[in-house]
Amino acid sequence: MNVAIIGTGYVGLTSGVCLAFLGHDVWCLDTDEEKVASLQAGRLPIFEPHLEPLARLASSRLRFTSRYAGAIPEAEVVMICVGTPPGPDGAPDLSYLSAAAQQLAGHVSGRFMVIVNKSTVPIGSGNWVGALVREAAGAGGDFAVVSNPEFLREGNAVEDSLYPDRIVLGAEEPRALEVMRRLYRPVIDQSFAAPSFLPRPNAVVATPVVETDLASAELVKYAANSFLALKISYINEISRVAERVGADVAQVARGIGLDARIGSRFLNAGVGWGGSCFGKDTAALLATAAEYGLEMPIVSAARRVNDSQRGRVVEMLLEELKILKGRTITLLGASFKPETDDLRDAPSLDIAQRLISRGARVRVHDPVSIPRARREYPALGAVFNEDLTQALAGADAAVVVTEWPLYRELDWAAFAPAMRTPVVLDGRGCLDRARLEAAGCRLLVLGRTAAGMAAAAVGTRG
Ligand SMILES: NC(=O)c1ccc[n+]([C@@H]2O[C@H](COP(=O)([O-])OP(=O)(O)OC[C@H]3O[C@@H](n4cnc5c(N)ncnc54)[C@H](O)[C@@H]3O)[C@@H](O)[C@H]2O)c1
Repeated sequence: MNVAIIGTGYVGLTSGVCLAFLGHDVWCLDTDEEKVASLQAGRLPIFEPHLEPLARLASSRLRFTSRYAGAIPEAEVVMICVGTPPGPDGAPDLSYLSAAAQQLAGHVSGRFMVIVNKSTVPIGSGNWVGALVREAAGAGGDFAVVSNPEFLREGNAVEDSLYPDRIVLGAEEPRALEVMRRLYRPVIDQSFAAPSFLPRPNAVVATPVVETDLASAELVKYAANSFLALKISYINEISRVAERVGADVAQVARGIGLDARIGSRFLNAGVGWGGSCFGKDTAALLATAAEYGLEMPIVSAARRVNDSQRGRVVEMLLEELKILKGRTITLLGASFKPETDDLRDAPSLDIAQRLISRGARVRVHDPVSIPRARREYPALGAVFNEDLTQALAGADAAVVVTEWPLYRELDWAAFAPAMRTPVVLDGRGCLDRARLEAAGCRLLVLGRTAAGMAAAAVGTRG
């Protein structure tokens, strides 16, 4: 099938590459000329595992352009994957979405086209995009709008696209659903030959499809992200109680998570969520609810708890070091999670800002995202450093903000002697206490006890 993808960010580029790999002819379109030039030259503008080799496998069916007239006219399916960043009041900024809808409308003809909202958009946006296209395209345009929310996780985006838990399709017209089923047939049936570097997991035999009306599909996305966000905030709230009563939050999480009704994922206590989705989508859901005169106290509380976890890092450093003014704190990890270079709403940036405002000097290390951090956050006031030795030398404390494997496996015995005081705050519960203590470090962990960590380490080794 001929497919056009509008917006080649984390979602659009991954979707475009995967659809081309599955056998479709795909145009990826972006208004950012620099991005398009880089893609045309074979360089991916984002860091995402497996995307580069997959793009190479699919290269004969994958083209990049900044011209709507080049990408849209032949397309049977047009996927809108532009950003919907948060506006000042929490409601998403829909200017990119409306620009995309209006620009593509000029190329809608009498040949049936399915316009897919893959961007995360407020409930009602499907109708709104339909109205925008109808106005601009005129009476002769034959099209239908489908809501197809995206659930990929950055860092696992290709895997999540080829082997998703489910595909959600919201539409009002059966013929649009038929086109979407054809588009996703290889994923629905899992009938494609899996790439050698990303084999099909044994448990994956087919992908469930959830077919709904437009509004329900749009709400699924917000409801899913808000639920995951509140699950993380819940365990972080429990970790505060654990700290007070001398319990170990990881042991509590294991005890809760083995209950099949609850599940163990998203129960890791720490500095909380970040990234381009949870903060934005919970805010957007609250904004939508407010439009209807509804409050969502659970979602609001999840946001407050998340914010306070970032503050908790500063409190713990203050308790330990007594004075933050003039201290050098090294944040290990800038990206909002491992295996991505995405810095949007990254806890590291917020924690850096809070420490700087208390007079600390902040250095930030990351194995992948330092060039992006320098480019996008020049005014933060932190020193971005790719060199771990330099970043840790003379530091009064190090804080693991992102659980990159590099930090987990670090030879602390080699780095600790160069720190002014070898205090390490593990904001993700990912370090081995015995190893750090053997290296002479004092380890602080949110919500955990020494006994609990020792027991967990024995369990892991056993
Ligand atoms: N990143 C994720 O993990 C994720 C997961 C699920 C859903 N989403 C949703 O998907 C959408 C896209 O997210 P992203 O992270 O890929 O964003 P992004 O910022 O990485 O990419 C958006 C791209 O759209 C381009 N663009 C903007 N206006 C355009 C226009 N009029 N025409 C063509 N291109 C245009 C931008 O130049 C940019 O390259 C958002 O709504 C987001 O909430 C993101």
